Amino acid sequence: MNENHALCATQEWSEHMRDEVVTYMSAHADLGESMLEIGPGAGASTEWLRHEVKRLVAMELDESSAAKLGQRFRGTNVEIVVGDATELACPDESFDSVGCFTMLHHVPTSRLQNAIFAQVLRVLRPGGVLVASDSLPSDGLHSFHVEDTYNPVDPGSLIARLQAIGFDRITVVVEDVLKFIAHKPMAEIGHEDCDEPSACTGPRRRAP
Ligand SMILES: C[S@@+](CC[C@H](N)C(=O)[O-])C[C@H]1O[C@@H](n2cnc3c(N)ncnc32)[C@H](O)[C@@H]1O
Repeated sequence: MNENHALCATQEWSEHMRDEVVTYMSAHADLGESMLEIGPGAGASTEWLRHEVKRLVAMELDESSAAKLGQRFRGTNVEIVVGDATELACPDESFDSVGCFTMLHHVPTSRLQNAIFAQVLRVLRPGGVLVASDSLPSDGLHSFHVEDTYNPVDPGSLIARLQAIGFDRITVVVEDVLKFIAHKPMAEIGHEDCDEPSACTGPRRRAP
């Protein structure tokens, strides 16, 4: 990231993340006990999220940022791991919630952003929730990212993208920042050995 991103390590940005994002997400989504945060950066959201859940795993691509976070959150309920969210090395259905804040515009292509959404869906338990935010596309944001990756999310196509990947119960809020909440569908009940799932809508019928 370019030098302008020193902003992300300031108290001002941390308070912005608390007031504009984390407070909203905890009021509008059930974060459960076990949460994964992807792209924590300097930890502006991590600091507040960790009080909302029992266990927080924060996965950061950049090794030096991850090392600083490891020192900062040593001895707390936060576990820092180095990793790439496009290929999450986490078991299926291992988190109640996943947080992703101000990082999607740093992912160079829509295909890779979709790969992140698909990985998030995989690691969420049925009924689990993705809570996410990002800066809205603007000329100012583009200039801020001079000589840096700049691939903002288009809010207008976001619901269709998330639905195509498999999320449901989706809320998209466009205010000063883009915020969105999307759920992994609940597990279906009673379809275990069904040859024709579309015909199986309740308890399995016995063969005559
Ligand atoms: C602008 S910072 C946002 C930090 C923090 N979430 C916030 O809102 O202040 C974006 C972070 O996402 C990380 N990142 C980008 N692509 C990633 C990926 N594929 N997997 C994990 N982290 C990634 C970057 O290294 C960077 O630290």
